[in-house]
Amino acid sequence: MVLKLKIKRQEEKGKTYYQDFEVPYEEGMTLLSALQRIKEEVDPTLSFRHFCRAGICGTCTVMVNGFPKLACKEQMLPYALFGETLFVEPLKNFEVIRDLVVDNEGVIRKVKGLRLWIKESSKDPRIPPDLSKKIENSADCILCFACQSYCPQVLEEEYAGPLFFAKLYRFYEDPREEEKNLRVVQAISEGHLYHCLSCNKCNLVCPKEVEPATLIRELMQVMDVGS
Ligand code: FES
Repeated sequence: MVLKLKIKRQEEKGKTYYQDFEVPYEEGMTLLSALQRIKEEVDPTLSFRHFCRAGICGTCTVMVNGFPKLACKEQMLPYALFGETLFVEPLKNFEVIRDLVVDNEGVIRKVKGLRLWIKESSKDPRIPPDLSKKIENSADCILCFACQSYCPQVLEEEYAGPLFFAKLYRFYEDPREEEKNLRVVQAISEGHLYHCLSCNKCNLVCPKEVEPATLIRELMQVMDVGS
């Protein structure tokens, strides 16, 4: 079986075009291994990001037939079986650096700006099991940017996006966070939580089933109760 791919290429600030590739299918092949095969044997200039190859680091996300997917988890067997051509493109809502590599510095700056990590406290570092279960979804986020790339509101300048609020959720619930009320209210206001359309698109594409839109609605409820 042969795998057919149409990959969007772009040189630095250059014009974009689609390039066709064919890769012999091998058992267990993922999109990432197909891209690596192209890079090793056909075109060494093809650029893409990856690191863990195990769905943990979140660096390999690309658009596959219009949906954000982790390349290292996307199995190629169905495409090879049915001879379907795969359209592979860089993440939407991000500036392209080259080929499938996008500039995510802006998101990282925003994560730092909203201080999306636990502020050290002297409290007991243990989390009760029931609470741990509650924040499990939020803590599962691997910063893969799939939700950010599929959110129709994210290009609106003031809206931080689903990634930020999914991460923020755990700080509201985490008992180790000392300034949680102050921090959450501040981040919600700076990130413009209420610009979310509740369209659930981020829920659909999150590879870790974090369900950002659901967590956003819970944060809205918390804010409504508190006001
Ligand atoms: Fe780490 Fe795909 S390479 S998530």
